[in-house]
Amino acid sequence: MMPNEEHAPRAGGRGAVLQLLKAETNAMHERIECVVPLLRPGLKLSQYGDYLKRLLGYYRPLERQLAGFSGEWALSGLDFTERLKTTFLEQDLAALQMNSGEIADAPDCRFLPRTDTLASAWGVLYVLEGSTLGGQILSRRLRDALGLETSSGARFLNPYGEHTGSMWRGFAGALSGWSRSERSDSQVVLAAQQTFTTLTAWLEERHDGRGTAGA
Ligand code: HEM
Repeated sequence: MMPNEEHAPRAGGRGAVLQLLKAETNAMHERIECVVPLLRPGLKLSQYGDYLKRLLGYYRPLERQLAGFSGEWALSGLDFTERLKTTFLEQDLAALQMNSGEIADAPDCRFLPRTDTLASAWGVLYVLEGSTLGGQILSRRLRDALGLETSSGARFLNPYGEHTGSMWRGFAGALSGWSRSERSDSQVVLAAQQTFTTLTAWLEERHDGRGTAGA
């Protein structure tokens, strides 16, 4: 995919940590694009539902892990609660007629990236927040292929609507500011890579947790 200028951080361009993250996860992003089924020809509603269910099993436990850092992020000017997306996945699945018992029982991924440090939590959040950029393309595809809107099962892919660009710039600015004083970029990058590899493995239904991205 070509970079989308609309979503690039303004004023001052990308901070060093953002440039590093993009460079060090680029191959993994290409890999995960191949695993996401939503752009495939003949996409069916059931495939979309299975994909969302799988994402729920990844986001639900991972956002719980990340919630422990809400206070630290607030100090960097980031409101973590407005970036939570598990509820949107649950709402989308309910819109696709999955009942609350099935949603609660969807299996959770057990091979998640480690978030022992704030640096690693930033790396994970980079991947989850960055995915809203590609989500713009994917939500248009869902509307065209399956007739789904944000109100009818496609909210997760477009959680911020017209604020997508500003939410990304807000995230990028907060991370860059934090990184300038902390100098733990290698930990941030490692966690972002682990996020891509574990999610790719989970979407490929490989349960050994080793992942394949970038291999
Ligand atoms: C078919 C699926 C996908 C497509 C077509 C896609 C497409 C895109 C596009 C167009 C951008 C914007 C690039 C830019 O403005 O420079 C982007 C950024 C990004 N995407 Fe995806 N994406 C997909 C899946 C994912 C998934 C599943 C994840 C992880 C959960 C992800 C993580 C990211 C990240 C972290 C960025 C920010 C990169 C950066 O600028 O640093 N993407 N994606």
